[in-house]
Amino acid sequence: MIVCLCHGVSERDIAREAAAGCTNFDALQDELRVGTACGACTDCARETFDAHAAPRGCPGACARPVVMFAMA
Ligand code: FES
Repeated sequence: MIVCLCHGVSERDIAREAAAGCTNFDALQDELRVGTACGACTDCARETFDAHAAPRGCPGACARPVVMFAMA
């Protein structure tokens, strides 16, 4: 399915970028230019990207739950 007519970007293109490690929509736009002309496809492109992007958390300490302490 073509998502962006202006730049000929397909769902497959977006899925490929997500699988290759693209972690945010701005980076996707830099790479594919999706949504950077008329903008009509932006919502669909974002939804497509979100559907294909695997949740990526920091594998280190920041992936642990945050514990909040109240000050007395
Ligand atoms: S359809 Fe994607 S920028 Fe126009």
